[in-house]
Amino acid sequence: MAGAAAPASRGRSRVRIEVVDQARTRDLRRAVLRPNLGVDDPLPGDEIADAIHLAALDGDTVVGTCLVYPAPCPWRPGERPSWRLRQMATAQERRRAGIGSAVVVSAIEAVAASGGGTFWLEAREQAVPLYARHGFMRGGPIYVDEQHPTPHQRMWQLVKSR
Ligand SMILES: CC(C)(COP(=O)(O)OP(=O)(O)OC[C@H]1O[C@@H](n2cnc3c(N)ncnc32)[C@H](O)[C@@H]1OP(=O)(O)O)[C@@H](O)C(=O)NCCC(=O)NCCS
Repeated sequence: MAGAAAPASRGRSRVRIEVVDQARTRDLRRAVLRPNLGVDDPLPGDEIADAIHLAALDGDTVVGTCLVYPAPCPWRPGERPSWRLRQMATAQERRRAGIGSAVVVSAIEAVAASGGGTFWLEAREQAVPLYARHGFMRGGPIYVDEQHPTPHQRMWQLVKSR
């Protein structure tokens, strides 16, 4: 699996991206993505043993994160290998300074370093431009369903192995 990724910056945020243990990103994931859950409640992805957890670090502070793991793409089910990006989060006070972009770039690099393939996600509608900027294409219309009560967009790209 991928090791530490390149440092990245845009505007005032200078961070480095590293592969970390899932426990390291837990507080940020809960605060941003599941604020209604208790401190010890399981978070999405906790059960996935082979997930790659990326952290944007400012010193020792986790200011951004996502996880990447092997998973078949629901709308390209025959394509292997396939990888899913999930649990993207940047600390509220650090947003729109390039941290999310740096995390996405490192996630793409992690997939490339792991053999490449179909890389997919279910984006919140507001985040679509961020993913599009990094090569993800729309995989259908905006939708709302039981698992996604706010508008979401399927997105994907093919990542080459390197
Ligand atoms: C999505 C998220 C991770 C982006 O992190 P970030 O560090 O701000 O990302 P960047 O600075 O690299 O890019 C910012 C871009 O994100 C997009 N974006 C995503 N959500 C946005 C929002 N709520 N408001 C405005 N822009 C948003 C915009 O395209 C923006 O680009 P711009 O600043 O040029 O307008 C962050 O907004 C976040 O944690 N949101 C809450 C959780 C979430 O929605 N996760 C994504 C689930 S798919």
